Amino acid sequence: MSDLPTTNDAGIPVESDEHSLTIGAGGPIVLQDHYLIEQMAQFNRERIPERQPHAKGSGAFGRFEVTADVSSFTRAAVFQPGVTTDVLARFSTVAGERGSPDTWRDPRGFALKFYTSEGVYDMVGNNTPVFFIKDPMKFQHFIRSQKRRADNNLRDHDMQWDFWTLSPESAHQVTWLMGDRGIPRTWRHMNGYSSHTYMWVNAAGERFWVKYHFKTDQGVEFFTQDEADQLASADTDYHTRDLFESIAQGEHPSWTLFVQLMPFDEAAGYRFNPFDLTKVWPHGDYPLTEVGRLTLDRNPTDHHTEIEQAAFEPNNLVPGIGASPDRMLLGRMFAYADAHRYRIGANYKQIPVNASKSPVHSYSKDGAMRVTNVSDPVYAPNSKGGPRADVEQYGTPAGWAAEGDMVRAAYVSHAEDDDWGQARTMVREVLDDDARTRLVDNVVGHLLNGVSEPVLVRAFEYWRNVDEDLGKQVEAGVRAKQDEKDPKAEKQANPARESMQRKA
Ligand code: NDP
Ligand code: HEM
Repeated sequence: MSDLPTTNDAGIPVESDEHSLTIGAGGPIVLQDHYLIEQMAQFNRERIPERQPHAKGSGAFGRFEVTADVSSFTRAAVFQPGVTTDVLARFSTVAGERGSPDTWRDPRGFALKFYTSEGVYDMVGNNTPVFFIKDPMKFQHFIRSQKRRADNNLRDHDMQWDFWTLSPESAHQVTWLMGDRGIPRTWRHMNGYSSHTYMWVNAAGERFWVKYHFKTDQGVEFFTQDEADQLASADTDYHTRDLFESIAQGEHPSWTLFVQLMPFDEAAGYRFNPFDLTKVWPHGDYPLTEVGRLTLDRNPTDHHTEIEQAAFEPNNLVPGIGASPDRMLLGRMFAYADAHRYRIGANYKQIPVNASKSPVHSYSKDGAMRVTNVSDPVYAPNSKGGPRADVEQYGTPAGWAAEGDMVRAAYVSHAEDDDWGQARTMVREVLDDDARTRLVDNVVGHLLNGVSEPVLVRAFEYWRNVDEDLGKQVEAGVRAKQDEKDPKAEKQANPARESMQRKA
């Protein structure tokens, strides 16, 4: 213990860390023991709602240094030659709750907050370049299918495969997920991707489509399913611990940022819809261009204020960087700030970890927990010297032309768009024989964990669509293992599902 006196939250020294104020040693506790009440009340309010998806995670601070010259593609201050910017990174799993194991098979969040000289820029990506779906209408349903059932509150592979096989656009991401990269060895050993296409605008107003690739300088490494299963019980916080301990020991992980750049006018005629989040741009079409290096070198000292209350939002785009017609991105530009207002409160941007390091001159005022003073004038336009938006300096918003009747329709298809082709390329041309064998084993193991018969049949078809031979191997693997099993034992293990199937 230090020599510092304990105080209450008002800074007033308190009399005891151990004993409540009572009438005699055996008597009742008195209501004026404010310190005891403060202790209990604050404790009851320690938890804030966890993030809906991406609840389990941690992060660290560091810097982004621009090492190349991409100023002909973007005028964003953060990407100008020689600029170094403070950064916060948070890594996460998607489906698990705050206490869930770090080594569950899942995509990993790769969220970055750049404290730039032109405001806070957030790049909220994943460790995969694609996603399961391409329309935000399906996101909520997708996440529910990955979380817990209503009746027994258990995660359920049957509903995961039910959703995936009824959503064939998921095939590319599911192939990735079931492969080696579905369980990174550590957060330091995985890449990060913007996944979405964004827009870059240069000083002359020229527009480019851009995808980000943060390639790990530590090398990509993964856990097999068996290794991950063992760690899930031996050390649920394995990735959290690894990042914290590495940084504490002076091993500072880094990633090199590359971008793929597409001239604005090439989008319409490209062989894939370049805004479809289930597709990559093959490197042969759009090679990687180096931008700079991200290094993490400082651990948080208070996880709650610096990581749990960190609020990343894809709508935080700075001049020179804009959105694209990717519908998922456009949906996300609403969802995150809404989540933060619910999870943290209306003035979440004033919490130091979220606050801009460049001056804020907004007209927002008041609300619960506002802590910075607002000054007059509180309205615009005004003749009282208040801030003024400046289209001359900041130009027109980064955007694109659009027209047509209001519709609810799929994206316009480009020449080579389909749900299976890029997944097939990964299976046939990127994975080696051992990686393909592990992919089959992972899928078979996943399907044997409670997936019901009609869904199983669709899953075999799904994999045959990706690659005929792969599908046959998956089916043969599942059927062989089923033959070894006692069907009665399977029924008893899943009473809820059996009753649902009877109802169906
Ligand atoms: P390339 O051969 O140029 O790129 C293949 C990519 O696959 C590399 O980025 C590599 O990542 C990545 N990769 C290697 N092993 C695995 C694995 N086990 N699981 C997932 N990804 C892996 O080919 P193309 O650009 O033509 O793409 C071919 C296919 O590769 C695509 O259909 C897609 O499935 C996949 N892919 C493509 C990416 C892209 O942006 N073009 C990015 C990632 C995957 P790295 O070298 O970074 O370690
Ligand atoms: C977290 C919504 C797609 C990456 C979240 C959160 C919401 C959300 C509500 C919780 C935010 C919070 O409470 O702090 C959505 C919606 C999507 C979508 C509506 C699609 C329409 C994606 C995609 C990616 C992604 C495609 C990656 C490319 C992340 C990450 C986090 C997150 C990394 C955690 C951020 C952090 O570390 O705090 N998402 N999401 N999401 N999402 Fe999404």
